[in-house]
Amino acid sequence: MTTLAILTAAGSGSRLGRDLPKALVELDGFPLVLHAARRLAASGVVDSLVVTAPDGLVGVMTDLLANDPQVQISVQVTDGGPTRQASVAAGLALASRRDNVVLVHDAARPLVPPDLVQRVVGAVRGGHGAVVPGVPVTDTVKQVRPDGDAELVTGTPDRSMLRAVQTPQGFARDLLVRAHRTGARRAVAEHLAATDDAGLVEALGEPVHMVAGDAAAFKITTERDLWLASLVLQETNA
Ligand code: CTP
Ligand code: MG
Repeated sequence: MTTLAILTAAGSGSRLGRDLPKALVELDGFPLVLHAARRLAASGVVDSLVVTAPDGLVGVMTDLLANDPQVQISVQVTDGGPTRQASVAAGLALASRRDNVVLVHDAARPLVPPDLVQRVVGAVRGGHGAVVPGVPVTDTVKQVRPDGDAELVTGTPDRSMLRAVQTPQGFARDLLVRAHRTGARRAVAEHLAATDDAGLVEALGEPVHMVAGDAAAFKITTERDLWLASLVLQETNA
């Protein structure tokens, strides 16, 4: 009985706007994907990694991860797909029968604390088929609809009941396989790809459990996020 982590790293990073894929952009001298892999390995609860690579970069990512002294778990690198959902499905295809727990984590969240990884795996091993880490939302959130050139506010959900969701998300493997199979059919029929894996489980009508996330697991989307991450690292290394 083992835990596999799928580390999604096949995106282009268009909002970051660098001339290389986001997962290979460096933070404190190391690519984001390496930071994320090291933290998954440091949790002590992940047995192996499958990393999804951008087109033509399977070799580069393999060299980077397979020879790192801090990633002392088995690493396979595979081609990602055109959407995050397709990339996760490509990684999931490499899960073995022994991997009864599967985590899905984004290379774009390089500073995930190892104890958050432990919390998610613990909840799945404790009997929850799908587990997501979440943090309270601090902004008031409005729902809108298009209105000519602008937008019209149609509602204000109760903020106390809203959570921003992070990764890693954790699943019983068979449930995640079933969710992705159904999700792939919907993606073809409705041209709609999910932005997280738990959403595919919800679409099956199966429960998704939430554990406490961590502000340090924030996602790097823009240059400002990268700058913030380097400040956080400076602070924690000081
Ligand atoms: N991802 C992936 N395959 C894709 C698209 C995204 O594996 N086809 C991964 C990214 O590498 C990232 C994670 O999914 O680790 C979350 O995606 P996001 O933050 O949107 O990253 P990008 O898609 O690379 O960035 P952007 O949307 O700005 O282009
Ligand atoms: Mg994207």
